[in-house]
Amino acid sequence: AALKRYQFDIVVKNVSRLCHAKPIVTVNGRYPGPTIYAREGDHVVINVTNHAQYNMSIHWHGLKQFRNGWADGPAYITQCPIQSGNSYTYDFNITGQRGTLWWHAHILWLRATVYGALVILPSKGASFPFPQPAQEAELILGEWWNSDVEEIVKQGNKLGLPPRMSDAHTINGKPGPLFPCSEKYTYAIEVQWGKTYLLRIINAALNDELFFAIAGHDMTVVEIDATYIKPFTTGSLLIAPGQTTNVLVRADRSPGRYFMATQPFNDAPIPVDNKTATAILQYKGIPTTITPLLPFLPAPNDSAFADAYNAKLRSLNSGNVPLEVDRHLFYTIGLGSNPCQSCLNGTRLAASLNNISFIMPKVGLLQAHYFNLSGVFRLDFPDRPPTAFNYTGAPLTANLGTLLGTRLSRLAFNSTVELVLQDTNLLTVESHPFHLHGYNFFVVGRGIGNFDPANDPAKFNLVDPPERNTVGVPTGGWTAIRFRADNPGVWFMHCHLELHTMWGLKMAFVVENGNGPEESILPPPKDLPPC
Ligand code: C2O
Repeated sequence: AALKRYQFDIVVKNVSRLCHAKPIVTVNGRYPGPTIYAREGDHVVINVTNHAQYNMSIHWHGLKQFRNGWADGPAYITQCPIQSGNSYTYDFNITGQRGTLWWHAHILWLRATVYGALVILPSKGASFPFPQPAQEAELILGEWWNSDVEEIVKQGNKLGLPPRMSDAHTINGKPGPLFPCSEKYTYAIEVQWGKTYLLRIINAALNDELFFAIAGHDMTVVEIDATYIKPFTTGSLLIAPGQTTNVLVRADRSPGRYFMATQPFNDAPIPVDNKTATAILQYKGIPTTITPLLPFLPAPNDSAFADAYNAKLRSLNSGNVPLEVDRHLFYTIGLGSNPCQSCLNGTRLAASLNNISFIMPKVGLLQAHYFNLSGVFRLDFPDRPPTAFNYTGAPLTANLGTLLGTRLSRLAFNSTVELVLQDTNLLTVESHPFHLHGYNFFVVGRGIGNFDPANDPAKFNLVDPPERNTVGVPTGGWTAIRFRADNPGVWFMHCHLELHTMWGLKMAFVVENGNGPEESILPPPKDLPPC
């Protein structure tokens, strides 16, 4: 195990895309930010110094941070933001995890430009469960706005409506030649005929689930969210914000230039977004004047592809799937509206879990829990929705009147939890990528329509379910996950569509300490930012 040190300077930098230049928040002046490389077992120390006029906080998405929520990063959940002129050191060990993860700002919408890859190689002497690739590359899928993102959000808040869609999708910060002024903002990887490459693909987009494909080349999927899966070959990938997918690609086609392309999966009726970002797979020795071909991508509303793709995901090794469940949770995902006096037409869109829209606290929830501060949160998040109804049937006329609150759910140490996330037709059905901090979970079931507690559990995969940190809840359907609550702390759970998070589609679990110091939250670091 090695000690890896990084310095992250948060600085504003002028960047130009789509014929527009604008100042963006960056790490070390880079967009996307620097890749963190480590090995399983390493100790990583990242000092973040904030030179910008924005509050900052960085999350290491998918790292379990065992007993160490202080290094997790979501603002007001595990820490107060790093204020302008201040520093904070994220100090953590990478235990029992290897693969592709990523990091991003976890405050407001700053992750629009503040993100990067986190690559964890197998520990020294260990190897991949597949042949060693000739080379590897990271492909981070993102979004670009011509205007200042925070301004767009404020506008959205004032109108109580969704803020404007992004102006482009990007691959490693570059939209590719299908966008104006973007010829020179095109990412390319050079490959040698006959060799196999490992691509680490990350969806860092704020609001879009994405398809990804490479013209002329199939991909063999070998890993998702830093867990190995049984390899399968596919022409296209589906990847939700927050998720990562590793694929092997063999450069064995007629040497040339091929587009890699990404485009949204628009399960929801609105907004309709069909922008295509491209990058180039370039065979060595082929002139760059040749025009590449575009790959075939599924149609924007191809939910049959999504269902079939998800069904192929199976863990390589059967992990420790909890077979017995101590705690059954059933959370409905609702989109509705709330009264809002400062909003243009008197209401604001609201998103809720079990009819509760989460209100961000003013101090960090982990501190409040650790130091027993009262009045910051309540521990009465309901295990079930207030009323049972036909979740995905004909649109409800009655608005359930979303409640507001900083309400958390308490989990006993080491208890096994099953959580069914059910999409509903309140306002509109839509797919939601749910991310749980501090854990990987097993995705044991998935279905369209209403979850049926009498019959669906018998169909759960308890043998080799995929293990991940972010899962898509299908439009008008449900997903069941299981995990063992063995990581004490306060752990955020939210939809990874930034728009929905902003509307309140989030909550947190308080996982109690077990016995003795080995099963308890570590003491907070001395430089933990004050509020
Ligand atoms: Cu990738 Cu709470 O986030």
